[in-house]
Amino acid sequence: VKRIGVLTGGGDAPGLNAVIRAVVKTAIREYGMNVVGFENGFGGLIKNQARELTEFDVIGILPRGGTILGTTNRDNPFHYPVIKGDKKIFADVSDRVFENISIHGIEALVVIGGDGSLAIGKELNDQGLKVVGVPKTIDNDLSATDQTFGFDTALATATEAIDKLHTTAESHHRVMVLELMGRYAGWIALAAGLAGGADVILIPEIPYNIDVVVEKINARSQERKKFSIVVVAEGAKPLGGEMVVSKHVEDSFDPVRLGGVGNVVAQAIESATDKETRVTVLGHLQRGGSPTAYDRILATRYGTGAVNLAAEGKFGRMVCLKGQNIESVPLEQAVGELHTVPVNGELIKVARQLGICLGD
Ligand code: F6P
Repeated sequence: VKRIGVLTGGGDAPGLNAVIRAVVKTAIREYGMNVVGFENGFGGLIKNQARELTEFDVIGILPRGGTILGTTNRDNPFHYPVIKGDKKIFADVSDRVFENISIHGIEALVVIGGDGSLAIGKELNDQGLKVVGVPKTIDNDLSATDQTFGFDTALATATEAIDKLHTTAESHHRVMVLELMGRYAGWIALAAGLAGGADVILIPEIPYNIDVVVEKINARSQERKKFSIVVVAEGAKPLGGEMVVSKHVEDSFDPVRLGGVGNVVAQAIESATDKETRVTVLGHLQRGGSPTAYDRILATRYGTGAVNLAAEGKFGRMVCLKGQNIESVPLEQAVGELHTVPVNGELIKVARQLGICLGD
């Protein structure tokens, strides 16, 4: 392989630039390859928005959040909006991808993305494009890797928020509700809740009973603990109830933007206890900023690993972390079931043993 492409797809995550940098450096230094960066996710592959990436282009990007490859988005060549007559329809435009790949003489494509982008990568690979995947998402919900890059940074941001909420909660004897990201998986909420010493952690995997939460807060008051910290994943849902989302946006992204379940939980607590309650929705602060040292290293190892796979001719695979090692798995494993928090797993047991209320 002498020429590879690279793109970033889906939502951003801290560490995207660290992966790009490692891909470029490894490809050029170790293998004498050329690298072409496609801008704006799969959209750039469809519209031929590409530029050669040299080592000069990646100077200084290791600590930077976001992506140097334009924007990152959810464009999908198999479901792409096109105008037909006076109507907008969604069509398969993957032929344009293959055209542009051949225009640039690209022999392999590194796709840095979460489950959506990796599923597109797998489909393209099945159709003959040689794809290598890199697992990205702050949610840490990809099943084929022990950890995605971006998670550690989101966790650090969320933990810092809990630490700060603690001091103000204590000063006012309030209940502080912190809503964190995690539509389907509660990894950020559970890990940050443990790291920050939350009293209640509500995650999508364990439907919550608000009465149990209220009981916990009242019991703390009786123990002379006049404040409480309640961490809620945006996808948490009440027992027997629906996740609190507005249906007008596809795939229900509204709770992140508008504050959803955190407000619902806070209102219920305030009306059932004598506690003043406040809500913080941490939102996209969890996706922004400079990656932690851990994420920089993991992202760098993934970038180098992805180029090594391409050089070895191992396509249709995703780099992954298994224990302490960087390995690889077939893309179909990477895009299978989401990796949610095991409800009888060790972390949940630890939380219970510490007396943290999980809402059940
Ligand atoms: O990256 C996943 C995620 O962070 C989810 O936890 C969240 O629901 C979603 O992205 C929000 O994405 P956006 O606001 O970019 O649509």
